[in-house]
Amino acid sequence: MNLILMGPPGAGKGTQGEILSKRLGIDTISTGVMLRTAIKNQTEVGKLAEQYINDGKLVPDEIMVTIVKERLSQPDCANGFILDGFPRTTAQAEALTASGVKIDKALSLEVDDDMIIERLSSRRECSKCGAPYNIIFNKPKTEGKCDKCGGDLIQRADDNPDTIKNRLNVYHEQTEPIKDYYAKLGLLVTAKGEEELADTTKNVAKALGLEE
Ligand code: AP5
Repeated sequence: MNLILMGPPGAGKGTQGEILSKRLGIDTISTGVMLRTAIKNQTEVGKLAEQYINDGKLVPDEIMVTIVKERLSQPDCANGFILDGFPRTTAQAEALTASGVKIDKALSLEVDDDMIIERLSSRRECSKCGAPYNIIFNKPKTEGKCDKCGGDLIQRADDNPDTIKNRLNVYHEQTEPIKDYYAKLGLLVTAKGEEELADTTKNVAKALGLEE
């Protein structure tokens, strides 16, 4: 399956992406993780992206389209992929369509703004592999350590109240309209993402037509 995961910051895209990746045996491609890795390694893309991310703004479309096209051209994507965090603007969605990459479904995880602040301020992520955790809702087995790779858990630089508000505004202004874009193509499905993790996972499976 070639799948797009959409939704506001903190909706659970990374969390559901991990679950679906294991279930379907295909990789998740998270543009947020790619950019944070680039920042950590201080690559050219990383240096360009850092200020945008810390301000809660979108990284310019040209950069994003280039790095995603390059990633999708790699052989492992031939078996399917889960795109988490891309496309995020109409221009990115149009560029993806124009590149000829076939999309089977675009899943929008629906969560109200009020819940986002609570989730994001208690979020932690692995400093090595980027796996998402939450010190209230989705605790690691060992405090401060990633279940998958043993890496240290850290708080993201953009998970502070001011930046979260900016990210939400950007989502409503620039990303939410692409739901219509995929609805018109007949590819949009939605799932409620406000329920606890197990129920949200069921909602996602149902929306994608996966067997229980
Ligand atoms: P990105 O990393 O994609 O961030 P985001 O979209 O803001 O989404 P998040 O990663 O914050 O949240 P999520 O939906 O993955 O939720 P999670 O599963 O962690 O992008 C970061 C920045 O990079 C952007 O702001 C932008 O600057 C730039 N960027 C990236 N892509 C770009 C693009 N295409 N174009 C331009 N710029 C781009 O869950 C959140 C928390 O809630 C976790 O702690 C989790 O454990 C918990 N949780 C999850 N599900 C549940 C549940 N059901 N119940 C309770 N808790 C839950």
